[in-house]
Amino acid sequence: MDIYKKFENLGPLGKYSREGYGYFMFPKLEGELGPRMNFMGKERLNWSINNYLGLGNHPEVREADAKAAKEWGLAYPMGARMMSGQTGYHEQLERELADFEKKEAAYLLNYGYQGMVSIIDSLVDRKDVIVYDSEAHACIIDGCRLHFGKRFVYPHNNMENLEKELSRAHKITGQTGGGILVITEGVYGMSGDLGNLRDIVKLKKKFPFRLLVDDAHGFGTMGPTCAGTSEHLGVMDDVDIYFGTFAKSMAGIGGFVASEQKVIEFLRYNMRSQIYAKSLPMPMVIGALKRLDLIRTQPELKDNLWKIVNALQSGLKENGFNIGATESPVTPVILEGGAPEATQITYDLRENYNIFCSIVTYPVIPKGMILLRLIPTAAHSLEDVEYTIDAFSRIKQKLDAGEYDPQKILNPYDFMKRDY
Ligand SMILES: Cc1ncc(COP(=O)(O)O)c(C=O)c1O
Repeated sequence: MDIYKKFENLGPLGKYSREGYGYFMFPKLEGELGPRMNFMGKERLNWSINNYLGLGNHPEVREADAKAAKEWGLAYPMGARMMSGQTGYHEQLERELADFEKKEAAYLLNYGYQGMVSIIDSLVDRKDVIVYDSEAHACIIDGCRLHFGKRFVYPHNNMENLEKELSRAHKITGQTGGGILVITEGVYGMSGDLGNLRDIVKLKKKFPFRLLVDDAHGFGTMGPTCAGTSEHLGVMDDVDIYFGTFAKSMAGIGGFVASEQKVIEFLRYNMRSQIYAKSLPMPMVIGALKRLDLIRTQPELKDNLWKIVNALQSGLKENGFNIGATESPVTPVILEGGAPEATQITYDLRENYNIFCSIVTYPVIPKGMILLRLIPTAAHSLEDVEYTIDAFSRIKQKLDAGEYDPQKILNPYDFMKRDY
């Protein structure tokens, strides 16, 4: 059989491509990054980008990015770090990130995703056992897929199960002579709840393991100095390997890993996605230095973010919405229904209330659930919050009254009678 045959089925996410492409999936958000962006030619109140601190369009960031691009271009440095892509700026950013995370050293990653895959791949060999959370991000799962040894999953944040899996892992490593790597996220990006870092690190007293934390959503948003979820929970020293991305709070691209000097030294020479790939371009590095400086020196960025987060989350709760167990800026609004209702709610929000947020349904979350995901940022206003809660309340009333047809997957293009 021709392997191309399988393209007839686009898979669970591609299934609604005809109805959804360009509207529910791959929508184009245009204009300046921020709480107001254009979608299909109309301005919408945007709650769907991880621009937590509002740095994406911060004038000082824009200026630093433009200046660096003018001075260095986007090509420099050419080659991988190890061969010809090393610069003093890359090293400076690593030193500053290590200090910020109170770790001995840090190493830059070209993309968070590939970086995480290679961190996991480098840290373990077939004698070792990985134990990881069931809701781990795809990059963690892909890293684990490369592992030739055993790997065990524990149900999300379930400490009893984690302990059982650690006990199994401990027996195995007793025989193989390997070690155990536990992987969790700091902030879970869909539900906004936190990895149970305090209880996980307590288990270090019972079992020998190293802890790797993916803090993509916590870096820049959590903790007194924005150093992340481990700072927020007071366990910075117990997290052995800390991972952050520049793609969210830092509104850039790339990422980093921070740990003890000997760990970083090892990773530098063993992470395949970094050894065999081009170094981060200079404007990304200089731009990241600027962003880190703003995070350190302008605590009002975080204060503004949390002012909006608190108003949004308490307002939603007061209005009877289920926002799950979030303890971070990520704000899920959980409703009952399937893909048909989800398409109609999204359309209603976008076209009748001009609100743009991401929507998630089965298979990403369990059947029968709709998750509207709101990402508050420092650039939103309290008026935005009030308007959104009011619109959501109207939507919920309609859903409860059965006004969204549970049989019909909405095709917005049919509805708009326009060809996009
Ligand atoms: C938890 C988590 N880890 C890793 C990544 C990947 O980061 P990047 O976008 O820098 O590749 C993301 C981004 O979506 C994420 O949410």
